[in-house]
Amino acid sequence: MLKIVDLVKTYGTGDNILRALDGTSLTIQPQEFIAIMGPSGSGKSTFLNILGLLDRPTEGHYYFDGTETSNLTDDDMAMMRLEKIGFVFQNFNLLSRTDALENVMLPLVYQGVNRKEREKKAYQILEKMELVHWAKHKPNELSGGQQQRVAIARALINNPLIILADEPTGNLDSKSSAEIMNIFTKLHQEGKTIIMVTHEHDIAAYAKRAIQFKDGKIISDKKNY
Ligand SMILES: Nc1ncnc2c1ncn2[C@@H]1O[C@H](COP(=O)(O)OP(=O)(O)OP(=O)(O)O)[C@@H](O)[C@H]1O
Ligand SMILES: [Mg+2]
Repeated sequence: MLKIVDLVKTYGTGDNILRALDGTSLTIQPQEFIAIMGPSGSGKSTFLNILGLLDRPTEGHYYFDGTETSNLTDDDMAMMRLEKIGFVFQNFNLLSRTDALENVMLPLVYQGVNRKEREKKAYQILEKMELVHWAKHKPNELSGGQQQRVAIARALINNPLIILADEPTGNLDSKSSAEIMNIFTKLHQEGKTIIMVTHEHDIAAYAKRAIQFKDGKIISDKKNY
């Protein structure tokens, strides 16, 4: 479903060139649940951002759901992100002035779905995240774990092909972290494809495949059943 071939991402020029990704290849099948680990600066976020069509590689090929992505325009990429990719970030990335419901509905606004339909869908997913009671609350009235559940609801509203999560439990206590990982486990069991960056081994243990980065390269790739 995702195929990455000899991916290189460089920053800077001349003597100051930095190879954030240095010839990375990987194939990801539908319904995998993958943890990406590795030291700070090893290229994990750079890799995830390219997978999520938020950034482009300097060299190499990336096939997303059968499409070679290097010829896509920025608009094509934005459209594919909206329709096929759900993002979850460490700092939740919610709009602070709007309530949980509006945050969750936002991707549907961009897709031109009417308000009634948006609300219906958003409530269904908030229900699944056990957040209906909090629908009209703004992010600063919610706990970290609740905010991350809103972010997951927003990531799910378009029924994406893949969920990409960059240190989704990085700002959470252990109880909230376990809650979030139980949600990911459930989504995986329902057939979602999940790719998650984490620093923590006990969080990575929820995934079924663990990929280790170092200096922009994959140094290990293990099944975890
Ligand atoms: N926009 C940028 N401009 C220049 N250098 C960058 C940029 N983004 C990332 N880098 C560099 O690329 C390398 C890889 O960064 P990346 O954010 O992918 O690491 P990471 O593995 O996610 O680290 P962390 O665990 O700290 O989040 C780092 O050396 C970083 O400084
Ligand atoms: Mg990172």
